[in-house]
Amino acid sequence: MFADTDLCKRCGACFDECPYDLIVEDKEGFPRLRPAARKTCIACGHCVAVCPVGALTLPDLPMTPRLAPEHCPPLDRELGVSLEQAYQFLRGRRSVRSFRKKPIPEGVVAELLDVARFAPSAKNGQPARWIVTRSREATRRLAGLTVEFMAINNVFPGVIKNWEKGLDKVLHGAPHVAVAHAPEDGFNPAEDCSLAAAYLELAGHAHGIGACWAGFLMEAAEGYGPIRDVLGLPEGHGVYAALMLGYPRYRYARIPRRREVELRWLD
Ligand SMILES: Cc1cc2nc3c(=O)[nH]c(=O)nc-3n(C[C@H](O)[C@H](O)[C@H](O)COP(=O)(O)O)c2cc1C
Repeated sequence: MFADTDLCKRCGACFDECPYDLIVEDKEGFPRLRPAARKTCIACGHCVAVCPVGALTLPDLPMTPRLAPEHCPPLDRELGVSLEQAYQFLRGRRSVRSFRKKPIPEGVVAELLDVARFAPSAKNGQPARWIVTRSREATRRLAGLTVEFMAINNVFPGVIKNWEKGLDKVLHGAPHVAVAHAPEDGFNPAEDCSLAAAYLELAGHAHGIGACWAGFLMEAAEGYGPIRDVLGLPEGHGVYAALMLGYPRYRYARIPRRREVELRWLD
């Protein structure tokens, strides 16, 4: 049974929130799942999660195993942050390029990635897969291969010179780099991986962990076989995001200036 009619208050939230209009009212106004759900449900779980009284259970569907309220932890209203806290948190995140040597415990990386799973993704596809270097040596190896790619292609001579002098301007001596990859033939793999990476960066920020997008590595991973080999990318997967990760050497004291918002209201 989709709706527990003893609990359901017929508030209509599940009808309104289903992205594919897969929920209709039965004769008594209770929610009923349309047969089309078997094909079209994207397993977003919104119907179960939005119900204020825990009345809905999604049955086993091709896209998702049974989803009941007990699979969806309740939101703790006490854990809300103030507007000021949220705004400062978001404005205070910085790209970090000086890292302490101390590695991030594996459990903490796992925890951050566990949060990143909740980023939005096209059709709830959640395509991002992660590769994370365990050691500074493994991270440095990827930086070295990126420099090799630069040298072959005659680009970024400054980065190459620095590398020769022992300065890593690719991954900045970070203890780890997290690489997000996904099937190239998905709906929106670049957006999905970028959003997952943005969540990862923000979850890290909340944890006192610094991150910086590794654009050079991403570019090299796209066109340089040896990097793809070291990463062990599955066939047909592309690298769509990469983040250096580590404990920051410095604390930012201020929020830097950014461009004013450019906005045009349209009537
Ligand atoms: C797609 C992308 C690629 C980036 N690549 C690099 C990079 O290769 N190296 C680097 O030091 N910073 C990189 N950055 C970080 C930007 O330089 C940084 O976000 C920007 O200067 C603003 O600073 P903030 O993040 O502290 O606000 C990248 C950022 C993005 C979004």
